[in-house]
Amino acid sequence: MDERIYESLMDMIGDAKTAGYTVFVCSAYRSEDRQYELFDEAMSSAIKKGMSESEAYDYAADQYSLPGTSEHQAGLAVDIVPLRQQILNAALGDTDEEKWLMKHCAEYGFILRYPNGREDITGISYEPWHYRYVGVEAATYIMENDITLEEYLDEFYPNHINWK
Ligand code: DAL
Ligand code: ZN
Repeated sequence: MDERIYESLMDMIGDAKTAGYTVFVCSAYRSEDRQYELFDEAMSSAIKKGMSESEAYDYAADQYSLPGTSEHQAGLAVDIVPLRQQILNAALGDTDEEKWLMKHCAEYGFILRYPNGREDITGISYEPWHYRYVGVEAATYIMENDITLEEYLDEFYPNHINWK
């Protein structure tokens, strides 16, 4: 990951552990090539299940940022999962570990980047494991006001580029 987020991330994971929740990072920096692989794998599995190529593209794009635009490639996002439950699905959001992270992440400068029910805004399905570093000030504003990064940027940086 980008070294600028390392200390905050370690503090967050360490404090989670102190609070009784053991979590770990299952995905950090990803190269553009790796993002292509993940995108292609998602598309291939959808095609195998009978989807057309364009349906499969939409299916993959709901879950993965286009190669070249992932926050993982920027090194500013990490996927964090409970040690005892590592399958990436919506049910993770109901675990005490992710609930602790959602409640406290802003104190360390992180936001839950792809919240439930905001798919129409973020363009990505619910990811209770994906935490993006934006700094404590922006993170606190976003999490306290229950908004997405897109809405924050629309408010404070109206000329920002929306990759979706
Ligand atoms: N899964 C997230 C959206 C990514 O591909 O960056
Ligand atoms: Zn992620």
